[in-house]
Amino acid sequence: MATQGLHLILLIFFNHLICLLGRKQGAGFIYNGFPQAQADLHLDGSAKILSPDGLLQLTNASSQQMGHAFFKHPFDSSEKNFSFSTHFVCALVPKPGAEGGHGIAFVVSSSLDFTHADPTQYLGLSNISTNGSPSYQLLAIELDTAKSAEFDDINKNHVGIDINSLRSIESASASYYSNTKGKNQSLQILSEEPLQVWVDYERSLLNVTVAPLRIQKPNHPLLARSINLTEIFPDHKLFFGFSAATGSLVSYQYILGWSFSRRRELLQRLDLLKLPQIPHPRAKQKQTSPLLVVLFVLLSLIVLAVLGGVHLYRRKKYAEVREAWEKDYGPHRFSYKSLYKATRGFEHRLGKGGFGEVYRGNLPHIGDIAVKRVCHDAKQGMKQFVAEVVTMGSLKHRNLVPLLGYCRRKGELLLVSEYMSNGSLDRYLFHREKPPLSWPQRFVILKDIASALSYLHTGANQVVLHRDIKASNVLLDSGFNGRLGDFGMARFEDYGDSLPATAVIGTVGYMAPELTTMGTSTRTDVYAFGAFMLEVSCGRRPLDTKVPAEKRHLVKWVCDCWRSDSLLDAVDTRMGGEYSEAEVDMVLRLGLLCTNVSAESRPNMEQVVQYISQNLPLPIFSPDSPGIGVYIPVLLEAAFTSRSSLAPSDSLPSPHNSMFVTHTITYGDGR
Ligand SMILES: *[C@@H]1O[C@H](CO)[C@@H](O)[C@H](O)[C@H]1NC(C)=O
Ligand SMILES: *[C@@H]1O[C@H](CO)[C@@H](O)[C@H](O)[C@H]1NC(C)=O
Ligand SMILES: *[C@@H]1O[C@H](CO)[C@@H](O)[C@H](O)[C@H]1NC(C)=O
Ligand SMILES: *[C@@H]1O[C@H](CO)[C@@H](O)[C@H](O)[C@H]1NC(C)=O
Ligand SMILES: *[C@@H]1O[C@H](CO)[C@@H](O)[C@H](O)[C@H]1NC(C)=O
Ligand SMILES: *[C@@H]1O[C@H](CO)[C@@H](O)[C@H](O)[C@H]1NC(C)=O
Ligand SMILES: *[C@@H]1O[C@H](CO)[C@@H](O)[C@H](O)[C@H]1NC(C)=O
Ligand SMILES: *[C@@H]1O[C@H](CO)[C@@H](O)[C@H](O)[C@H]1NC(C)=O
Repeated sequence: MATQGLHLILLIFFNHLICLLGRKQGAGFIYNGFPQAQADLHLDGSAKILSPDGLLQLTNASSQQMGHAFFKHPFDSSEKNFSFSTHFVCALVPKPGAEGGHGIAFVVSSSLDFTHADPTQYLGLSNISTNGSPSYQLLAIELDTAKSAEFDDINKNHVGIDINSLRSIESASASYYSNTKGKNQSLQILSEEPLQVWVDYERSLLNVTVAPLRIQKPNHPLLARSINLTEIFPDHKLFFGFSAATGSLVSYQYILGWSFSRRRELLQRLDLLKLPQIPHPRAKQKQTSPLLVVLFVLLSLIVLAVLGGVHLYRRKKYAEVREAWEKDYGPHRFSYKSLYKATRGFEHRLGKGGFGEVYRGNLPHIGDIAVKRVCHDAKQGMKQFVAEVVTMGSLKHRNLVPLLGYCRRKGELLLVSEYMSNGSLDRYLFHREKPPLSWPQRFVILKDIASALSYLHTGANQVVLHRDIKASNVLLDSGFNGRLGDFGMARFEDYGDSLPATAVIGTVGYMAPELTTMGTSTRTDVYAFGAFMLEVSCGRRPLDTKVPAEKRHLVKWVCDCWRSDSLLDAVDTRMGGEYSEAEVDMVLRLGLLCTNVSAESRPNMEQVVQYISQNLPLPIFSPDSPGIGVYIPVLLEAAFTSRSSLAPSDSLPSPHNSMFVTHTITYGDGR
């Protein structure tokens, strides 16, 4: 153990001794990076050793910089056959966006004093007055990245040998001999890639070789020049090191590693893996990029927000209310989007009703449609109502306006039915601009509506009441057939704001007297149909406040005419007397029969159809028959006080649920 320990101590001691001797004799040194080299190096100007891995930075990319780094201890060149060999790795990294310059020089100098030297093309080695002076005692191998006309530089990417002057005695464009390819390869000095340089001096011959990193030393030097060092350095005192400068042209200039030996065969290999990393000036780019990143992110956010907004807007625009129980009605449900498109954004308004507006549209595969938008607040009753809508959809009769389906949104219900091209009957009866209907047309329409109502009362699976028969709820198809409109679609045009009042009065005129006390039934529909028959024949509303009091109540007035033996005086004068007196007479008397104040005495709709199609003769009765042509003003007051009195209170929920008033459909009650 003891002897081993002694051996170790001796070994260490001798190693140290050899090292010291080597240093003393100036045999050589090696730096794979310069982390511990501060003590041995003389640095000035912008030169500094960067932590952590000891990268030697000669200049940064500021202008007018120069930096020197020299091995502190001089070498003596007086001995015979003086030689040296060196290998170093440098990097000249361009500043992004700037033209690089000026370069690095490997320098052999008799002095470490460069205080009077200039940067830029002088590379921190001389100034304008000392350049070329033999007293200067300087040998430099320049890696020049700027073309200085002053020194006859061949280009801005060359290697040169300088003696006392920056005007090279020998120079060549940067290239290397590729041992593997057997030919010269060009090389970029100013790049982000490190560069290897070998300088060998032996027997008065100076060889300079360059190559990219990770390439074996080329077999042939780039420059070879016979040089008498004794002539240049008569004092035999040589300092070895580097100089670099920037001018208005700038670049980062680094030395990564440096091996030096007095004898070529003793030159230690640089360990390329241990060399420090050069900072890529992309890091510099990162300083500006945060702004770009922020801008980009901001832009992305804006785009996202806009897209999201559009999406939300569209979702909101087309939002619907859909509940689980509606699944059963799936086929009758339209999407709001499809209706929105069908009506081109509810562009073409057909009319404005008391409870909503009607729009015309066109659905592919279905054709022309009318869409009524009904406002609703009522939650309760909605289910029942939708069920009724679906029932309506199942009602099929040639004199009913087919209901195609519905759509629900928040606070809104949309009802879709077929479009009736000739509008509502009341337009032909009461609006001067339309041609008056002839009697045969009117008679056909009356028969049509009687047939439709009879179907509702008896032909469908359940008893369906219409509740609101009147001219404005009768629509005319393209063939001028009468179609019973289900949802007040007939309220086309011309009504404007006065409509609600008109609606109440009009509706009141068709109301059976027992309605407010007994509720709706098939008999109240019959009463309304009776009033409707008189309306169509006389061209007058059942209750018209604008005419003299004796004519105001149509049922009463028609009866009065009959009583004074002039029943046909009641007939619409717009027909110009062209009508079948028998038919008109029959229709007027049937109207009176249907408006008997006594509900039980009215015929039912099946009988009405029989009478109006003249399959059965009317029963014989006189204008003085009890219950005929009676006007009951008390009920009118009651009806005026509240519209909700129209809505049957037990079967249908709230007075809010205004659509039940106009929408005129229920089943199960009555009869
Ligand atoms: C370069 O170094 C000098 C000091 O030597 C400093 O003033 C300057 O800001 C540095 N420039 C850059 C671009 O780092
Ligand atoms: C110097 O070089 C000559 C010729 O190459 C050689 O003969 C001589 O031994 C060398 N001297 C020393 C000290 O190396
Ligand atoms: C050039 O350098 C020398 C010393 O090396 C100095 O005496 C002289 O003043 C300098 N000239 C200029 C123009 O800087
Ligand atoms: C210098 O290069 C020449 C070939 O150009 C070669 O013969 C010579 O040995 C080289 N000398 C050194 C010291 O590398
Ligand atoms: C390679 O370059 C060197 C130095 O510039 C030159 O002497 C040599 O002739 C070139 N060789 C080839 C193959 O081009
Ligand atoms: C080098 O120069 C010195 C002094 O000028 C001279 O004595 C010597 O012979 C020269 N050596 C060679 C190899 O030319
Ligand atoms: C009724 O509708 C048909 C078909 O759309 C049309 O040709 C006709 O002109 C309309 N009649 C009136 C009076 O508007
Ligand atoms: C009208 O109703 C009353 C009361 O039920 C009845 O007496 C009368 O005969 C009815 N009139 C007609 C024409 O049926």
